Parts: sequence; C-alpha cells; structure tokens
Amino acid sequence: APDNLAATPPMGWSSWNKFGDKIDDATVRAMADALVATGLRDAGYLYVNIDDGWQGQRDANGVLQSNAKFPDMKALTDYVHSKGLKIGIYTSQGPRTCAGYEGSYGHIQTDAQTFADWGFDYLKHDLCSGEWFYDDADEVKRSYYEMGLALKATGRPMLYSLCQYGRFHVSEWGRSVGGHLWRTTGDITDDYKTMSDIGFERNPTFGHAGPGGWNDPDMLEVGNGGMSEDEYVTHMTLWAIQAAPLIMGHDLRQTSASALRLLKNRDVIAIDQDARGVQGRVVREEGPLEIWRKELADGSVALALFNRGEVAAQMTPTAADANLARLTRVRDLWRGAAVAVDDLHFTVPAHGAVMLRVHGESI
Ligand code: DGJ
Repeated sequence: APDNLAATPPMGWSSWNKFGDKIDDATVRAMADALVATGLRDAGYLYVNIDDGWQGQRDANGVLQSNAKFPDMKALTDYVHSKGLKIGIYTSQGPRTCAGYEGSYGHIQTDAQTFADWGFDYLKHDLCSGEWFYDDADEVKRSYYEMGLALKATGRPMLYSLCQYGRFHVSEWGRSVGGHLWRTTGDITDDYKTMSDIGFERNPTFGHAGPGGWNDPDMLEVGNGGMSEDEYVTHMTLWAIQAAPLIMGHDLRQTSASALRLLKNRDVIAIDQDARGVQGRVVREEGPLEIWRKELADGSVALALFNRGEVAAQMTPTAADANLARLTRVRDLWRGAAVAVDDLHFTVPAHGAVMLRVHGESI
C-alpha cells in the first residue's frame, strides 16, 4: 500500500550544493538551528539532508561506519529531531560514491538497517560507479527496487530519493520501486544557463508525478549568489509551478534578506505544495516568452509568466491561459498584492518571472 511520506513534494535542505563532501556534524547541527531561526522550518522546509562525504569504512561485520567528521550519528539525528525537523542520509548503488566514499554495493540490507537504526528519515540513493555493472535499465531498476524493499523491511518510515540523473526513463518506474522522488536531470549548478535548461527543458511532464512521487529537477541554488535576483525568482517559480521538491542548497546561516524573501514566500510554497499535485506545464509560447499553468485543488489556477529573453517584455495572460471562461480574482504572488482582473499587463524583466494565482468561472 502507498505510504503517506510524500503526499506533497518534499522540502528541506541538503549539504551538497554548498559544501560538497566538506560537511561535518557541527555544520549539520548549525543548519538545523538556522532552519528554525530563519523561520524556514515553519515555512515547511523539514528535511536536513547529509549528502556524500559522511562515510567511513565497514567493520568486521560489514556494517558501514561514519567517518571522523561524524562521530555519533545517533546523537546527530536526535539533535535534529529535537528541533522538530527530519534528517536524511545518502548512499550509492556502486562500490564507491561519486566523491569516492564507500558505497552500498553488496550491502543493501545492512546499510538500510544501519540508516534506520541511526534514526534517519530519508535516503538519497545515487548511481555512482554503478554504471559499470548496471548497464541496462532493468538492472538499474532492480537495484533501486532492492533498496526500496530493504528500507521498507526496516519498519522505519524513510523517504526514498532516486538519483540517476533522469536516465533509464525513471519517471515511468520511480514510483513502482518505492521512490518518493526521482531525479530527472544531471546536476544543477548556480548559473542561469544550467538552471533554466533543467527547469524549462529537462524535467518531464510525462510519467507519474503526483501525490506520493515526484519528478526531481535537483536542488535549489537560491542563496548561493551565482544568479541575479530575477533569475532566482525564475528558479523558484519554475520549481513551484512544476511541483518540484524544494531542497535548499546554500549556507542557511548566511541567508540574505532577498533569498529569504524568495524561499519563504508562503503563496508560492502553497502552489508547490498544492494537494492536487499537478505538475504544471507550458501552455503558451511566443519566442522567449512562456506562460505555464498548474491546476490547483480549490479550482483556482497558478500561472507563471517567464521571460527567457535578454530584454524586459510586456506579458498579457488571459482567462484562456488558465483554461477558465472568465477571471474573477488575480493575485500577484511575488508582489503579494491583488491585481485588477481587467488590467492584466505585466512587465517581466529579462530572465525574470511573474507568478499569479487566478480564480474564475470554469468553461
Ligand atoms: C551526484 C548527485 O547528482 C549529486 O546531487 C550529489 O549527490 C553527488 N553525486 C554526490 O557525490
């Protein structure tokens, strides 16, 4: 039976984008503290995820130990739980992870049990060094299935994140192997070109994304500073309209006021987290200008106006874009203000976006 671990897209933070494998116990605790202090926990960001770089060696029984940077995993998960948060860990299918640490090959059940015993709530399962022997889709799928079974067999509810970079048509089977989210792309980096290429082109709208299992276009770069504010608005808007997991990837202790404003916007988060779980998609394109639509649980509709061009542009969404007969109420979510329904003209900056929630009469 389906569990209820990912009724809406997972939200949280991961160590990878900012810290790579230079992550340690003290930093993870500091991130938990910062999630509380910034109000991000209360906005919905619940998972604190340790990515690659925590692993040590196996003991004589084959049980994987953490390395010196993580002296006591159980104490760490207890600490994060005491903050009202959940905590995630990472492994890989192959004998080695992408950063060269010990992987789970040949130790799937033991490792799943270790993660459960330590008190983890989330596992990201990578495909590093697995390509050598998992050379076809069936083998990759079976390997993800085995870890999904092993996690279930522990009896501890753990959210299961598949990380295979969009290969092997994962969006068609991610859910069936127990996955709650599955990567649809290669790694994001903190630049507009990579982010927009992933967000606009590579996160498929086909497949089985929806309540319980989600397409994952990779983690957020908001707050890392490589993009302009308008570009980060596009990043958040694209992820929210596609019901993507919102996993932050910056140093939460140094969240700028503008990053916090983007990450904490409750109206935008509500679009991402909408109970209907529709992955929005493009409905109108005119050159570099795109309008995307996501139907919401209460019958209202989210519209995103994107300007992928290099100069500011006027955009004029219509009731038809929302698949409604007539609009009765429009809210501009980034401005946090109502907009007159008979005056829907927006100036969208280069690389920027406008996000609306519209109500109206159905066709
Ligand atoms: C590749 C993944 O796509 C990244 O998100 C990260 O987990 C690294 N591997 C870690 O080595």
